[in-house]
Amino acid sequence: MSTTATSQTPQATTDSLEIRDSRTGTTYTVPIADGTIRTSDLRQIRVNESDFGLMGYDPAFMNTASCRSAITYIDGDAGILRYRGYPIEQLAGKASFLEVAYLLRNGELPDQKEYDRWVHDITFHTYVHENIKRFLEGFRYDAHPMSMMVAGVAALSSFYPEAKDIFDKRQRDISIIRLLAKVPTIAAYAYRHVKGLPCIYPDNDLSYSENFLSMIARMSESKYEANPVFTKAIEILFILHADHEQNCSTNAVRAVGSSHVDPFSAVAAGISALYGPLHGGANEQVLRMISEIGDMKNVPAFVESVKQGKGRLMGFGHRVYKSYDPRAKIVKKLADEVFASVGMDKDLEIAMELERIALSDDYFISRKLYPNVDFYTGLIYRAMKFPTDYFTVLFAIPRVAGWLSQWEEMLLDKEQKIARPRQIYTGYDERPFTPALDYRKKLVKF
Ligand code: CMC
Repeated sequence: MSTTATSQTPQATTDSLEIRDSRTGTTYTVPIADGTIRTSDLRQIRVNESDFGLMGYDPAFMNTASCRSAITYIDGDAGILRYRGYPIEQLAGKASFLEVAYLLRNGELPDQKEYDRWVHDITFHTYVHENIKRFLEGFRYDAHPMSMMVAGVAALSSFYPEAKDIFDKRQRDISIIRLLAKVPTIAAYAYRHVKGLPCIYPDNDLSYSENFLSMIARMSESKYEANPVFTKAIEILFILHADHEQNCSTNAVRAVGSSHVDPFSAVAAGISALYGPLHGGANEQVLRMISEIGDMKNVPAFVESVKQGKGRLMGFGHRVYKSYDPRAKIVKKLADEVFASVGMDKDLEIAMELERIALSDDYFISRKLYPNVDFYTGLIYRAMKFPTDYFTVLFAIPRVAGWLSQWEEMLLDKEQKIARPRQIYTGYDERPFTPALDYRKKLVKF
């Protein structure tokens, strides 16, 4: 018997996959579109009427596309990263971060009028309610700034209850603007709180990056003037981190957003996911690893210990890139500029030696482990005097642009539903419950 599966594939296709089920001898034909089959097409493959049907098993989504997306393109083997078709190398250094944020969300670069309006609106919304400031003040002096970010952004949701109306475009517009505008302010307040310094209000005469640096570093001066090398570095690093297709935090934003919660809550979930050391937390770990190595002479022994499975070389390897991360190339060049401005650092020398040894070692070559974006970013941030546990915050600020673009794309995608994976149940079969503990006899009366 040959069965053709019905499918709502948006693109008509004549390509198909024939599957023969050795359990029943039945052959099935399922359509192939965009190099994928729909795993729901496998459900028709059953041994009998009561069988649930075949499922795909793919822990960690190693080989499963969860959405169709027109935002970011990555070719991990060739080391290509493009936002809406534009190569990252051309955007970084030539476009502004807010231009890129507009591009990610709207699909096209803004014209002058659109850009001016976009920048005006974001600048207009940089202030946060004073209660957000007071809320952040409630954290301990040594709170991790990422905890403050998660909480601060989630708390914003309670200030804008109308943001729940996610299918009203005007509400999405204003929520997106508010998030892009206020996240740097919350980030800077978190920084100042940990330092025991008063919060600096946004300066709306400044650009996005300059204003952020002003809220971080301004003291008694009436106008803060950032080191232009630092402003440029922040602007470029923000662009490099703005989106990266279906990574762990974006997947978290999409999954949480698929429940139709407001975007503040969905973005807070993204910040939580980014906090982890295998994701955005890696740049922090790179610095910790380098200070643990301590000296150039210890590098070979450290690499050897990694090869023996005693820990990982942080800032190396990527689920998607199996060649040099294109962002890492730009960051390395940027590091040279920042260090030319503030002076060379012993840790940079250790990082360069680590990279040199790893890139010529068969362990790393055979596993296609190359430096990723986090390898050099931490060194740049440290040269700019950001504390190590603040590095992931500097990743989160620009990633808000990508998360929101992905969130909105998910919402408007007619095929998307609430994210709800299947499982293979490995637990007990049914077994009877016999009340045995004393406390139940005392407290529970039936
Ligand atoms: N150092 C040493 N060995 C490694 C490393 C590393 N950094 N990364 C992977 N491997 C080895 C791993 O042990 C395994 O070896 P084997 O085949 O012998 O068991 C092989 O390479 C494949 O590793 P994997 O864990 O299956 O690869 P993955 O795609 O699941 O992991 C990764 C990707 C980024 C989590 C991982 O490479 C890693 O832990 N890197 C260090 C943390 C890091 O830098 N993360 C930042 C990622 S880029 C920024 C972002 O997107 O957040």
